[in-house]
Amino acid sequence: MKTRNYLLLALGLWCFGSPNARADRREFLLEKGWRFTRTDDSAALRTDYDDSRWQTVTVPHDWAIYGPFNPNNDKQNVAIVQDGQVEPSEHAGRTGGLPFVGTGWYRTRFDVPEFGRDSTRRATLLFDGAMSGAQVWVNGQRVGEWPYGYNSFHFDVTPYLNADGMNNTVAVRLENLPESSRWYPGAGLYRNVHVVVTDGAHIPVWGTYVTTPVVNERFAKVNLKTEVILPETVETNRYRLVTEIRDSAGNKVAETTTRLTDYDEGVLTQDLVVDRPALWDLENPVLYTAVSKLYEGDDLKDEYSTPFGIRTIEVRPDDGFYLNGKKTVFKGVCNHHDLGPLGAAVNEAAIRRQVRMLKDMGANAIRTSHNMPAPELVRACDEMGMMLMVETFDEWRSPKCQNGYNRLFDDWAEKDLVNVIRHYRNAPSVVMWCIGNEVPEQGMEHGAKIAHWLQSIAHREDPTRPVTQGMDNPGAVINNNFAAVMEVPGFNYRPFMYPENYRKLPQRIILGTETASTLSSRGVYKFPVVRAAMKTYPDHQASSYDVEHCGWSNLPEDDFIQHEDLPYAIGEFVWTGFDYLGEPTPYYTNWPSHSSLFGIIDLAGIPKDRYYLYRSHWNPTEETLHILPHWTWPEERIGDTIPVFVYTNYPSAELFINGVSQGIRTKDTTIRVEGSYTKEAQASFERQKRYRLMWMDTKYEPGTVRVVAYDSTGRAMATEEIRTAGKPHRIELTADRTVLDATGKDLSFINVRVVDKEGNLCPEDTREIRFKVKGAGSYRAAANGNPASLELFHLPQMKLFSGQLTAIVQSAEAPGEIVFEATAPGVKGAKLTLQAK
Ligand code: GAL
Repeated sequence: MKTRNYLLLALGLWCFGSPNARADRREFLLEKGWRFTRTDDSAALRTDYDDSRWQTVTVPHDWAIYGPFNPNNDKQNVAIVQDGQVEPSEHAGRTGGLPFVGTGWYRTRFDVPEFGRDSTRRATLLFDGAMSGAQVWVNGQRVGEWPYGYNSFHFDVTPYLNADGMNNTVAVRLENLPESSRWYPGAGLYRNVHVVVTDGAHIPVWGTYVTTPVVNERFAKVNLKTEVILPETVETNRYRLVTEIRDSAGNKVAETTTRLTDYDEGVLTQDLVVDRPALWDLENPVLYTAVSKLYEGDDLKDEYSTPFGIRTIEVRPDDGFYLNGKKTVFKGVCNHHDLGPLGAAVNEAAIRRQVRMLKDMGANAIRTSHNMPAPELVRACDEMGMMLMVETFDEWRSPKCQNGYNRLFDDWAEKDLVNVIRHYRNAPSVVMWCIGNEVPEQGMEHGAKIAHWLQSIAHREDPTRPVTQGMDNPGAVINNNFAAVMEVPGFNYRPFMYPENYRKLPQRIILGTETASTLSSRGVYKFPVVRAAMKTYPDHQASSYDVEHCGWSNLPEDDFIQHEDLPYAIGEFVWTGFDYLGEPTPYYTNWPSHSSLFGIIDLAGIPKDRYYLYRSHWNPTEETLHILPHWTWPEERIGDTIPVFVYTNYPSAELFINGVSQGIRTKDTTIRVEGSYTKEAQASFERQKRYRLMWMDTKYEPGTVRVVAYDSTGRAMATEEIRTAGKPHRIELTADRTVLDATGKDLSFINVRVVDKEGNLCPEDTREIRFKVKGAGSYRAAANGNPASLELFHLPQMKLFSGQLTAIVQSAEAPGEIVFEATAPGVKGAKLTLQAK
């Protein structure tokens, strides 16, 4: 009993503040117990509305990811102009084939007990993102709207709260229009919703701006601009702002105090010095924290923390991008925001797994195509050492989709740009802003003026980062000033035009904002092995020999060669790191295709062969030695030509089939970008020979394929082998993480595969696997990476695709053991035990 009273007292002090003790800031998430419906009923904004029949959901929530898939969910009768289509045709699955179109309502209640005790308190509702057309009411009163589904926004809801601060109802209406997207956008409150309670005197949301104008080995000058809001009637000079900088261990390394007599239009400027700063970089992403404390006399009114990094960035003409004075070529990927089987619903564990895999591949940057990222991604990149190019728009004023951002551009573009920059301008991972992607204005006379306007807003809000945009119409943009106004000219595709673009443009650099768009399906191999554009097959797949692309795009090496050989080419962002829902190009009208084939990694998060090609080129510190295709073909294929490719960072290798040498292949480094764009080279694997080792004439016979990699002196350095698999024998399970946080949100991604007696993957197995989860966790979803599979992600069964799939297990809030079980007819099942702590 006694303990309980103490606890209550402590909680009271914490909530309501006590003199000289704690700041009056409290932040919490609105996660559990939301009510949700797809019925459009505007009476739902009333506080006395009965929502008890609505579904109970936890936010982040994506209402559309539960399906079912149906081509009528998102039929678009359009011509995709940027893909070269002239006549409209009926597209199915372009946005994932999931039911995101329409209206959704969410309601919940929250308490701000501080209000009843202290009339000077303020409350803010902060949405990390709501898809889309958000309209918000608190206690039946309209608070505001934010139409763009990807941006974060916030409202001061103080005037709308109940006098005692208790039992406030928030109602959110969202509406997704048909033909509003080129990919799966998700639907609903798919990112977090925060309540921020402060004193009247406080630092508002995104109220700090940290820059490091001088950085050297001895010291860093840290400049802080802090917005301070005071109640109207107070005496300003009773307030002071104390800013401390803490290192990553929490030690105070600098401090300064400013009295608010210097208070100038609500923004205070402070300069601090950090001695011998530890820099934020890709290997060692050191973070500092600026802690801003606002005092009235001796009362701490607010305490606001800003994580930041100390680092320099610079773009040097004819040279490259420099991070901390070190030349750093962008080895980047573009990613859409969806998390495959989780849909758009944000999840930190899923995001961190993506970043981990990309880092292992050697990637150093992500482009958040074509919209604002979730804060969880930015934080992960800050903490894990990954650069971000943060993008805002896929459309300006001219439509690509009838109901896309074009409807909002004139009224919202500046507000949207300001919000994303204020939100993320302290993140060291963010190294560039990207104001657009392939906007139709590229070819229009006024286009350059809009580009200039948006770039100036970015510069006004954050003069420290360069600005780019992705342009895919070089013919137009180098002649009409559109590319010339950009600080960093970014080109999507057509790498063979870089030299001409460079010659005509003033900036003396070229960024590959979007590259490759190579197509492949994990574990699917097509014959004969030839380079092909827009190739389609009855099975809706593309070849994993990595030889297929779109009409406008190319193979990975066609970009590698540019960024290696041209001193002004500063790196690339591959389309895409991960497969995403929607845009099943080259399958446009071919239901059930409904997710992309562009990913280096599939929708289940399983690497395709291409992963190892990028890894061999991008990750110099880890050994890569990867053989493709698999070697388990039907008997009637014995004697057929089945080429073998090897992706490795060694310069040469020898291939053996059942012990018989098939010869040595060596990367041909004499192939340079100059002269490699002849018609013949374009139709063959000319540029590929510099980066991949290819045995085009090998004949199939069951057994073992073994590769021995040699260094430049011919010394054997490493070997790898694959074997013909026997009969399917058992299920094998491997988790990405076996110890989870008992938060109710943490996830383990479990690779599920069928293997033979010896443990060889059965590469064409498609049997259905059933899952059970017991103990301190639950089954969340599964995916197999098949872009034409209509199986629902959230059901506890799924068919293997090319022998594998990924099942996702979520921790409960209580610690304990989680047992995951997978069974299937005809093979031995498997169990895996995880821990939630
Ligand atoms: C680009 C576009 C991307 C995606 C890609 C497919 O033109 O920017 O969003 O559509 O093509 O190759």
